[in-house]
Amino acid sequence: MSHPLQIDKLVKRFGGLVATDNLSFTVEQGQSVGLIGPNGAGKTTVFAQIMGEHRQTSGSIRLYGKDIGAASTPERIRLGVSRTYQVPRPFAEMTVLENIRVGQMPNNLWQMIRRKPQHEKEVELALSVGFLPSDLGKTPGELSMGDLRKLEMARTMATGTSVMLLDEVFAGLTVAEIAQIASLIQQMRKDGMTFLIVSHDLKALEPLVDKVIAINYGARIAEGTFAEVMNNADVRSSYLGAA
Ligand SMILES: Nc1ncnc2c1ncn2[C@@H]1O[C@H](COP(=O)(O)OP(=O)(O)OP(=O)(O)O)[C@@H](O)[C@H]1O
Ligand SMILES: [Mg+2]
Repeated sequence: MSHPLQIDKLVKRFGGLVATDNLSFTVEQGQSVGLIGPNGAGKTTVFAQIMGEHRQTSGSIRLYGKDIGAASTPERIRLGVSRTYQVPRPFAEMTVLENIRVGQMPNNLWQMIRRKPQHEKEVELALSVGFLPSDLGKTPGELSMGDLRKLEMARTMATGTSVMLLDEVFAGLTVAEIAQIASLIQQMRKDGMTFLIVSHDLKALEPLVDKVIAINYGARIAEGTFAEVMNNADVRSSYLGAA
């Protein structure tokens, strides 16, 4: 069977800067993979290329065996990949429920027109990520950072995704909020979701991942179990030493 996500010899240049340098990796079905590296290593740029927000300079991106390197972002979302953003990007004027509704649009335009069933789905999604019924009518300005991260996750789930890319999901959260998001990810792993997770919070990342890929200057410097990557000499000098 083809892998949910397969990246091969990916290169992204911004003018003279090589942001992704001949990067290859595979994420297997139901696997949860960590992507780590120092600030500016190119983690977010990898996500942007998987989603089609930036076109790769060369190399290929396959989703369930299909080359998506030239597909539009909505097409990629339809094929089952979706991401969250390092800085949450909700629609400020919309409520929690309305923001989740927007996430469903590419897949479910027809149901969106038939309001009621869709409304129930939004409520279900909002509650499943940990919102209280009293939160559903709030706007993003009234939410904590933890709630904004939950909203990012719910919007991603609303697309019907099966491969979820999480960019710095733990950034800016309290210890209690980190625990809540981590248990949400664990639950989704049990339900069969495939994950690629970027996190500077290695302590939070460790129990969530089957393997870790470390990059620096856009190139892979290590890949293996969490422990193997933490013990890698290049990772220690370029990332952990500097941290
Ligand atoms: N649109 C862009 N135009 C030019 N350079 C860019 C662009 N986006 C990113 N870069 C550069 O590409 C490199 C990788 O950036 P990226 O944001 O992917 O790193 P990152 O690993 O996500 O960093 P952080 O941990 O700080 O989030 C950096 O040098 C960055 O300045
Ligand atoms: Mg980033």
